[in-house]
Amino acid sequence: MIKKTINQNHNFDLDLLKSIDCNYIFNNEPIDRSKNKINNMDKPEEDKIKKLANLKQEINSIEDCKLKSNAAKLVFGDGNIQSSLMIVGEGPGQKEDQLGKPFVGDAGNLLNKMLKAIKIEREKVYVTNVVNYRPPNNRKPEQSEIYRYSEYLKKHISIIDPKILVLMGSTAMEAILGSNKRISNERGIWKEVIIKQNSYKTIVTFHPAYLLRKPDQKKFSWEDLKIIREEIDKQNIEI
Ligand code: URA
Repeated sequence: MIKKTINQNHNFDLDLLKSIDCNYIFNNEPIDRSKNKINNMDKPEEDKIKKLANLKQEINSIEDCKLKSNAAKLVFGDGNIQSSLMIVGEGPGQKEDQLGKPFVGDAGNLLNKMLKAIKIEREKVYVTNVVNYRPPNNRKPEQSEIYRYSEYLKKHISIIDPKILVLMGSTAMEAILGSNKRISNERGIWKEVIIKQNSYKTIVTFHPAYLLRKPDQKKFSWEDLKIIREEIDKQNIEI
């Protein structure tokens, strides 16, 4: 793991960072992402399909989990596995639990509209959650659950290997960036996050379910969406 802390004023909880196997690179210079990639060639689709199936199987065999024992279905991921854009939410709600697919309820409808606003079709991105089983009564996953499932999430991210990673909401932020962060401070800022030795251009933004509860926050979400669109255009990413 390479750790560079250049020109930054943030205080890190290094033990926590080590424990969650991620680190940040803060640098005023643009990062040559190709240097950080062990293999920056597109991973063949069959290879990804196989790895995703193995990961799903691994999650399916989780034992002693309150989430799993209360849920109807494993909710794994949805969308284009070759997409350059990967979105991570919190966990399945009631509808997702019924259908076994992420973001198919009200929050999913808003997510689709948010993507459409920046000219992205939902089917063209890949979507998953931190926890793959619906928390009882839609409660927020506990810290220990976030930590446990973050291992699977990191594997999931490294298989999909997106060019842009969008963390929606505090649970996704916590799973990847650690628990000592506030979403209002972190949102809308690009970060380079290293997961399993690859660097991912990552942005935190509000979760659509939060926006449904607090519509006055949509103006910030719109700022973040525009930042994401700008980066897609800047990198000439095809989505
Ligand atoms: N909220 C999430 O975080 N994920 C879903 O799949 C649905 C709602």
